[in-house]
Amino acid sequence: MKTSPIHALTGLAYYPDYFDWGAQDALLAEIRAIVAEAPLFQPVMPRTGKPFSVKMSNCGPLGWVSDINGYRYQPAHPDTGRPWPAMPAALTELWDRLAPEAPPPEACLINFYEPGARMGLHQDRDEDMFDAPVISVSLGDTATFRVGGTSRKDPTRSFRLASGDVVVLGGDARLAHHGIDRILAGTSTLLKNGGRINLTLRRVTAA
Ligand code: SIN
Ligand code: FE2
Repeated sequence: MKTSPIHALTGLAYYPDYFDWGAQDALLAEIRAIVAEAPLFQPVMPRTGKPFSVKMSNCGPLGWVSDINGYRYQPAHPDTGRPWPAMPAALTELWDRLAPEAPPPEACLINFYEPGARMGLHQDRDEDMFDAPVISVSLGDTATFRVGGTSRKDPTRSFRLASGDVVVLGGDARLAHHGIDRILAGTSTLLKNGGRINLTLRRVTAA
């Protein structure tokens, strides 16, 4: 008998296979065009300057960046100084469908994980407001996603996110700790050279 219950946070929603293969492929083509214009950059940890294991870009009016001075949102690419490319319609439609009450998303962070990359447990809390959810889309290799509670000490659970899956962190789960433990290399053929792309949509400013 297993006696440890799983306390699921309300507001955490998982949509396996939200995007079918054709939709994933179309979205990937749009992301490639965005990255051609706004190249992947190498974020580093504030203060220490230690590089992240993921590379990043953004689309939408604002983009999330991390450098020696801290985490922040800014309207331009840190290397090129150009505005971020527009957000693909498939992503704004996803937001409208899953977060119809929320004001439009302002930032879409593009994280690129090579096999071996990971993302430590953290909260998404650089936004001015937490009423809107965070919506994430996974493309490419499957990842093990870990999610806990609003306190760092809360117990965590992990589950796999495959290509086309969508996760919503809203309500009580909006400030849940989460991270990526590992990428399961060779689990998807969507990206020709393997790896994983995660797209995270966020509302940054109060409406
Ligand atoms: C993130 O929390 O920024 C990324 C989560 C993910 O890669 O699924
Ligand atoms: Fe996050």
